[in-house]
Amino acid sequence: MTDVTDVTVTATATTQTTATTRGSTTTGDRTMPLLEGRNLRKTYRLGRTNTVNALRGVDVAIEAGEMVAIIGPSGSGKSTLMHLLGLLHGPDLNHGPRPELSFAGQPMVDLGEGERTRIRAREMGFVFQDFNLVPTLTALENVGLACDYAGVRGEPARQAALAALALVGLEERAGHRPAELSGGEQQRVALARSLVNRPRLILADEPTGNLDSERSAEILALLRRSNLAEGQTIVLVTHDAEVAAACDRVIRMRDGRIQPAASPVPAAETLVAGDRLLATA
Ligand SMILES: Nc1ncnc2c1ncn2[C@@H]1O[C@H](COP(=O)(O)OP(=O)(O)OP(=O)(O)O)[C@@H](O)[C@H]1O
Ligand SMILES: [Mg+2]
Repeated sequence: MTDVTDVTVTATATTQTTATTRGSTTTGDRTMPLLEGRNLRKTYRLGRTNTVNALRGVDVAIEAGEMVAIIGPSGSGKSTLMHLLGLLHGPDLNHGPRPELSFAGQPMVDLGEGERTRIRAREMGFVFQDFNLVPTLTALENVGLACDYAGVRGEPARQAALAALALVGLEERAGHRPAELSGGEQQRVALARSLVNRPRLILADEPTGNLDSERSAEILALLRRSNLAEGQTIVLVTHDAEVAAACDRVIRMRDGRIQPAASPVPAAETLVAGDRLLATA
């Protein structure tokens, strides 16, 4: 069983290295991705005969300090992959080659739910496609909840939550509940919640999906700033070619698989055809 403290120490070293090398982490002679998955499969069973193979064997490596976009048609498995990478769900274990998933060099597949929850709370920030805000809590309380999970409470948590809301331009909405916010504002609260603990990894599922192009560019610039300033690793799902083009690298999914980098690019995705594209911020 891996000790979470070990993960934290390893991960801290990862960020320090990353701040100077921007992209890869070195452990001795070996370059170590922050996140690495192999043979990731996920099957959803709906009744006895109806199954959906949402992930059909994915190998993926995300280097520390990268800002990566995942694109692909609806239903291709993007959210499912994000849930696995964010330790929210486990990969299938009962068929095919054994799956592996490591975070900061530590194996994750066999960790118990308690440890996965602790790593998630301290090291990862998640923006869900449907926001996942608690309807009875205000924006401030929703963001503060992430502090609470990470062990930060009271006035420090309040200040951190306010600062995160200010980062996304929502300090004046701190007292609003989700139903009293627009879709785009709820999305920004979800983003503030993912940023509040300054996690090593941000997994954002369509973080600009409900925003107009101006607000979307602002949020992207905010993510890029945090990526550059803190060496934070960011993986985001998007349907927006401009958002993808602003990332360092694009991963394409189709039918539960990652497409090879050199695969033909459909016309609609021409904007994101390059493997490494320049950032906007
Ligand atoms: N909880 C679930 N139960 C059953 N099937 C599911 C479940 N979640 C996802 N699926 C199915 O798995 C496949 C992949 O879904 P996923 O949500 O990962 O796609 P996606 O690429 O994120 O799509 P979108 O761009 O529409 O968000 C889809 O066919 C979907 O219907
Ligand atoms: Mg999705």
